[in-house]
Amino acid sequence: MKKLLGAAATVALLALSAQASADAEVGEKIYKQAFGRGCGACHDISSNPQLAALIKAGTLKKDKFAEVIKQGKNGMPKAVEAILAVGAVKKAGLTEDQAIDSVYEFLSK
Ligand code: HEC
Repeated sequence: MKKLLGAAATVALLALSAQASADAEVGEKIYKQAFGRGCGACHDISSNPQLAALIKAGTLKKDKFAEVIKQGKNGMPKAVEAILAVGAVKKAGLTEDQAIDSVYEFLSK
């Protein structure tokens, strides 16, 4: 019985943390608002990487996605500060990794 309760608690905790870790609605706000004009100000231009298409095609994995956001790459500015400054991120109290997951979730839809 004790074991069973422990398992139930673990499942409940996992469900809770999954909910807090990725929120596509917050992700959409990040995509549209980060840096003031949103990631789309650059990424909706066809010569720049088309993030949603790359993710859906399976060629842009989450670890690479997060790495570029944290470190920047050529014309891509480091974006963690801009992401954490988005109102919806502050309101939801997301960590840096949860916020990045949320943008990834949004772009995966
Ligand atoms: C000032 C323009 C600009 C803004 C704003 C911008 N990006 Fe980028 N981003 C780029 C450019 C240019 C590249 C291509 C860099 C390269 O590969 O040389 C890029 C690359 C990336 C990549 C890597 C794609 C790949 O396949 O290698 C990711 C992930 C990314 N951006 C995410 C974001 C997210 C998320 C935001 C918003 C928080 C954002 N970018 C905002 C210009 C921008």
